[in-house]
Amino acid sequence: MTHGLKQQGTLKAAVLISGTGSNLKALIDAVKSGRLELDIVRVVSNRAEAGGIGYARAANIPISIISHKQYADRDAHDDAVARVLDDSQAELVVLAGYMRVLGAAFTARFNGRVINLHPSLLPLYKGLDTYNRALQAGEAEIGASIHVVTSALDSGPVIAQVRIPVNNNDDAASLKHRLGPLEHKLLVATVEQFCQGDLRFDCGQLVFRDQLLKQPLQMSHNGTIQ
Ligand code: GRF
Repeated sequence: MTHGLKQQGTLKAAVLISGTGSNLKALIDAVKSGRLELDIVRVVSNRAEAGGIGYARAANIPISIISHKQYADRDAHDDAVARVLDDSQAELVVLAGYMRVLGAAFTARFNGRVINLHPSLLPLYKGLDTYNRALQAGEAEIGASIHVVTSALDSGPVIAQVRIPVNNNDDAASLKHRLGPLEHKLLVATVEQFCQGDLRFDCGQLVFRDQLLKQPLQMSHNGTIQ
């Protein structure tokens, strides 16, 4: 299946959050500044107290709070989220700190249209506590990745990455502090490629500027992606 996401004018995206929402804010700011030709049609949070809801409200973006606690199981919750996404007509779904694993029915339904920001250089350190695990392993560098969401956790094709060196005195907090602003840039730069039609998902493979993407794009610290 081809997703020519740019074909119908401004790309429509939904953003799923669970917490602070600093990455949602980065997207909102990039839309406001005119950098992203993106219509954020809906924000979905599984937590009513997520700080990011305030950013959506301030930007007049429709919000759905769909608590997983109100559903019998994962599939029932996923299905409720999926119905809201269908109604919103979102073409791209961005997981920006959405702390729920999505089931296979959901990922099949939105095949190739869901991307996630993960704080590691995938395929290394899938799952949680990525900074501490990287430190314990003595990694010389860490980073963040944007990948396509599939039914296997943090295992879909990696689209783009940013890297930082690990210093001798680093701990998880200092790594998070240094990487956070670069994660924002990485998400905006990657979504920009979808908006411009440079990135698409074709028959299960990522295509960048009409070439199969064999290696993840790399973002420099000034936000340039290639
Ligand atoms: C980011 O660090 C991202 O890598 C991870 O969750 C965090 C979300 O932060 N998946 P925020 O809610 O966007 O501030």
